[in-house]
Amino acid sequence: MAQGKTSPALWWGISLIVVGFLGFFVFLGLAGSDGSFDSSSFFDRDADVREGDFASLGEQIFLTGRAADGRLIARSGGFGGMMGVVACVDCHGKDGQGREIRMMMFDIDAPDIRWSTLAEPEEEGTGTGSSSATEAHPHEPYDRESFSTALREGETPGGEELERVMPRWDVSADEVDELVDYLQQLSE
Ligand code: HEC
Repeated sequence: MAQGKTSPALWWGISLIVVGFLGFFVFLGLAGSDGSFDSSSFFDRDADVREGDFASLGEQIFLTGRAADGRLIARSGGFGGMMGVVACVDCHGKDGQGREIRMMMFDIDAPDIRWSTLAEPEEEGTGTGSSSATEAHPHEPYDRESFSTALREGETPGGEELERVMPRWDVSADEVDELVDYLQQLSE
């Protein structure tokens, strides 16, 4: 091999590193740095919620945070979509029974939101769960209207304000109804 020529193996090595770096920046670009949910965000690019993917719109919202047309439902608060936390399921769990979320400096309890639990008044600590998160969250009984107020404005039936980790959701009356139906199914 003539002197001064770099071996093909080294070129391959350099190319792979360059490609790796480019990939990283492309990823950063897609994810967006402000955590907002505009249409060009990483999550919306991933949007391929199709009709028929879910048994109901309520289930779709619970599992994906997306409206009937596949758009992420506007919300404020929460984790701003950090680490893929975009839907009810990510905090309240697949069964709706609540869970403890550890994220960076946060350590929060997302309560049980099955309809059976929401519609009943709860005393602190009467839940049956194994962690504090799945224990009952004290509240006055919810109905559809107060559930909607909690979602949209973060206010409980007792007039308390929910912590900001629980996002405020810009949901329509129909979407609220669909969610209630789904939370009723989770109660069964
Ligand atoms: C980023 C995490 C997160 C997401 C996403 C989230 N929640 Fe919550 N939610 C919470 C936390 C934490 C609380 C408890 C707040 C408090 O105690 O002040 C809560 C409280 C609630 C409550 C009040 C429960 C009670 O006992 O009074 C309801 C209802 C609720 N969430 C419904 C939903 C629904 C429906 C969705 C999806 C549309 C959703 N949440 C998405 C974290 C989340």
